[in-house]
Amino acid sequence: MGHYLVTGAAGFIGSRTSEILIGQGHTVVGIDNMNDAYDPRMKEYRLKKLQAMKGFEFVRDDISDKGILNRQAALVNRQFDGVINLAARAGVRFSVDNPWVFVESNVLGTLNMLEICRQYGCKKFILASTSSIYGENPPYPTPETASSSEPMQPYAASKKGAEALAHSYHHLYDIDVTIVRYFTVYGPAGRPDLAMFRFVQWILEGQPIRINGDGNQSRGFTYIDDIARGTIAALKPLGYEVINLGGHEVITINQLVEMVEDLTGKKAVVQHGPPNLADMRTNQADVSKAKELLNWNPQVTLREGIGNLINWYNAEREWAKEVPDAVKFSIIKTESTREGPRGAENISESGGLSFPSERYTIHPCFRNSKTTR
Ligand SMILES: NC(=O)c1ccc[n+]([C@@H]2O[C@H](COP(=O)([O-])OP(=O)(O)OC[C@H]3O[C@@H](n4cnc5c(N)ncnc54)[C@H](O)[C@@H]3O)[C@@H](O)[C@H]2O)c1
Repeated sequence: MGHYLVTGAAGFIGSRTSEILIGQGHTVVGIDNMNDAYDPRMKEYRLKKLQAMKGFEFVRDDISDKGILNRQAALVNRQFDGVINLAARAGVRFSVDNPWVFVESNVLGTLNMLEICRQYGCKKFILASTSSIYGENPPYPTPETASSSEPMQPYAASKKGAEALAHSYHHLYDIDVTIVRYFTVYGPAGRPDLAMFRFVQWILEGQPIRINGDGNQSRGFTYIDDIARGTIAALKPLGYEVINLGGHEVITINQLVEMVEDLTGKKAVVQHGPPNLADMRTNQADVSKAKELLNWNPQVTLREGIGNLINWYNAEREWAKEVPDAVKFSIIKTESTREGPRGAENISESGGLSFPSERYTIHPCFRNSKTTR
């Protein structure tokens, strides 16, 4: 059985990937700095589940800090069968507001994790990248050979930098590198800054749904378990490969709202705002390479996956209904910065959502939160 290092282990994809690895009998060291890019309660919830599993060891630290290479006993001189680097600042809109944290976590963090491979002899490195790397006008469905040389936001640019570093370590040190470029991922305990979580929450709570633009923009969605399985399949030796994962089932935002309405039996109140220029109009993956190299076939349909997310939300509703959206959360952070010890580094990450913000009181659980970076 293998021993793996998973970064971003309290994150949406990292936690599920770790759970499946442990379920297969492997052991996992998970790293996460539990930052407040979105409501940390989501990360604590996922981490608690992982910590209840035998075979999981948690390290709370920042992968962008070079000191991590020497100070963590769980990492130093440990023999990993693979490093799965999922920790990152994610989200195109947030990266426009605060590009610095994206370069730190996504580029420097990737460099440090590659150094773990080099210094401690790990031969397999997986890097999570993104469909956003394909720029403004890729062909649809988009193959891995489409240009990724014109990133449109710092998020995509930081992932391009990380990919390039990973290639250089493959070339210099013969580390087997697989870059998995995810498209839009969704599922239970998913990211609360992404549309799928919000739509389910807003519709179930009877709150208005906010859509940027006309709602005819589309996304290729893929269920979390399919993504985690594909990531684990990519642990096999492949040399150096870039592989699209996900984005196979395309639906417009308007159709998505209709599907959630249908599955919840509740009618949405839709408000349209201006389009967000940092958003891509569509994304859709050509996943033939994943099928060929990884024998990867997504198994969960959109209807089934959204049903699972709704069931999860209903089961966790007592606290999940309080998880704020990006606008509210940035206000909570800004307010707690003014009051607390965190200093001026906390730039608002409202992410350019086009709706006027109301004022919200600070949730007590954030009043004394300290920055984890
Ligand atoms: N979810 C998607 O739809 C999607 C799409 C494309 C690419 N991706 C990529 O997949 C990966 C996982 O995404 P996710 O959706 O699970 O995001 P997530 O934000 O839920 O998970 C990332 C985790 O990494 C941690 N982290 C961030 N910076 C860190 C640092 N410097 N040190 C230690 N931990 C740090 C965060 O606290 C978080 O728990 C990311 O690399 C993201 O860019 C995700």
